[in-house]
Amino acid sequence: MTKILFVCLGNICRSPLAKAVFIQKVKRAGLEDKIFADSAGTSGFHEGDMADPRTIQIAKINNTPFEHTARQVSVDDFHKFDLILAMDESNLANLLRLRPENSGAQVHLMRSWDDNKTGIEVPDPYYSTGLVEFQRVYDILNHSCGKFLEHLKEAAAENATDSQFNVEEKIK
Ligand code: 4NP
Repeated sequence: MTKILFVCLGNICRSPLAKAVFIQKVKRAGLEDKIFADSAGTSGFHEGDMADPRTIQIAKINNTPFEHTARQVSVDDFHKFDLILAMDESNLANLLRLRPENSGAQVHLMRSWDDNKTGIEVPDPYYSTGLVEFQRVYDILNHSCGKFLEHLKEAAAENATDSQFNVEEKIK
């Protein structure tokens, strides 16, 4: 089982949406017994909260099943997960600060596998008004999760004898 953790700041907008979009693709690919995903925030601002109502709404509009309770990332996560994907540079810097020396997890930006990135980050929609920015985030994540899953499948095919997906290969 390859375990992926999506991380943003509050864990109520981007990373829960990334998880939902990714899991939908994993299920469609029939890979749910091979890939597990979760999400967390670098902050504990919204620990125990539901996702932002706009996140829930945008998942619904795009027919992506969505269920979420916010939590803060922990040191344990660096031992439990194979790959931790940060939505932006600030999240990445915070994760690298928190990462224990003996961490087994790789830490990268969410958009590391995008081929048509307009910016390396998934922009924070929290302070935007209305749903336009949330739909933009959805579109970015939809593209990015698709590319990331392709990468995992290619890496698995290249390591057919390995029961795990090899997440270390081919990171741009
Ligand atoms: P997220 O967005 O990191 O994508 O969940 C945010 C959610 C809450 C806050 C900032 C960003 N906040 O400051 O409470």
